Amino acid sequence: MSKILKLTPRRNFLFGLGSLAAISAVAISRSFNNNQEKKALDNPERDFTVSQKLSLKQRAAQKGLIYGTASTKSYLASDPAYMAAIVENCSMFVPEWEFKWTAGDAMLRPGVDQFDFTAADWIANFAATHKLLLRGHTLVWHESLPQWFKETVNSENAQQLLQKHIQTVVKRYAGKIHSWDVVNEAIEPKDGRDDGLRITPWLESLGTNYIDLAFRLTAEADPKALLFYNDYGLDYDTPKHEAKRTAVLKLLERLKSNGTPIHGLGIQAHLSPGKNKFNPEKLRQFLQDVASLGLKIMITEMDVADQELPRDIELRDRIIAGAYEDYLSVVLEESAVIAVITWGLSDRYSWLSEFQPRSDKAAVRPLPFDAQMRRKLVWNAIARAFDNAQRR
Ligand code: G3I
Repeated sequence: MSKILKLTPRRNFLFGLGSLAAISAVAISRSFNNNQEKKALDNPERDFTVSQKLSLKQRAAQKGLIYGTASTKSYLASDPAYMAAIVENCSMFVPEWEFKWTAGDAMLRPGVDQFDFTAADWIANFAATHKLLLRGHTLVWHESLPQWFKETVNSENAQQLLQKHIQTVVKRYAGKIHSWDVVNEAIEPKDGRDDGLRITPWLESLGTNYIDLAFRLTAEADPKALLFYNDYGLDYDTPKHEAKRTAVLKLLERLKSNGTPIHGLGIQAHLSPGKNKFNPEKLRQFLQDVASLGLKIMITEMDVADQELPRDIELRDRIIAGAYEDYLSVVLEESAVIAVITWGLSDRYSWLSEFQPRSDKAAVRPLPFDAQMRRKLVWNAIARAFDNAQRR
């Protein structure tokens, strides 16, 4: 996910004054998060207490829901305590790197005719050993593509390349995968297309039908797996998020009317309180619109970027936990929502440390456990959201 400058209403207005003002607006608005606005994000009286000694997966299961997390072989294999916490708290697992074409120390696709399943098999075995539902993330994305891909793919060979990848990878794990993120982040309105599609090597080499093709190939290779379209930037009351929600809905409507074998939408939910305005009604309506297409919904990569939030840990943790509970209480009202997955279980291993660090160099605090594996208010917020959810 590329770094996005999220426009708040104040930045939006200032940007309308012209480029010079826009530059100064960015400078000004960087400090928009002044004390009274921070205070508005916080409620020192807010109650985050939880009852019963149940894990997150037990609380989710009581309501017919799934709670899961993402991680990697290299984190799990070197950190038994972290692995144990995932097994105790989660009933679903998503590989953060190993089922991509290439990411981190995992190289599923070393060459145009080569596959290296070492890391992916380790993940599949880990999930099976601990009876974790396994998500496949992700088959078709414009990021994490190996260098040879960019040097090789063209309109003549792209279909064969896509077909070989999906048939080889999906068939290998057929019957072991709960759901695949078949296509990831294919919508980008700022690329200027009427259909809102992101301009990617897949679109340029295969045309707009690459999405339908990817779903059909996956369904043929594993008829049991649920097939999802996954994307981010769908959460807030901003022009950018509104445009993205509209374009994603248009895509889903097109796929459904086309008979594409798609079962659900993955909403990544990389939240950023203090940068964007949360409007429960906007989110509720979007969820209802997706559900009205007969699609399931999963929250697939939830975390909270705290760059703009106060350094003070007690205050920051309250604001972050509040963002989780406010968001999940809206999301879990929608009966089509079947799972909540956080993008990591502990601050020790969040992508945000590297990709969205705080300017004051303080450690980020986006997830249910801190870097020392102590539960945080985020854990309580997720627990409360499950406890207050309707049973499915
Ligand atoms: O740690 C290695 C380093 O040793 C090596 O020298 C370097 C060389 O490339 O790679 C480093 O690993 C990087 C890893 O993050 C840890 O920093 C990988 O290159 C990099 O690809 C990896 O980025 C991942 C990113 O997706 C791209 O695959 C992130 O971990 C992962 O959290 C992120 O997850 C994405 C979802 O798949 C889709 N939605 C957005 C989400 C966040 O961007």
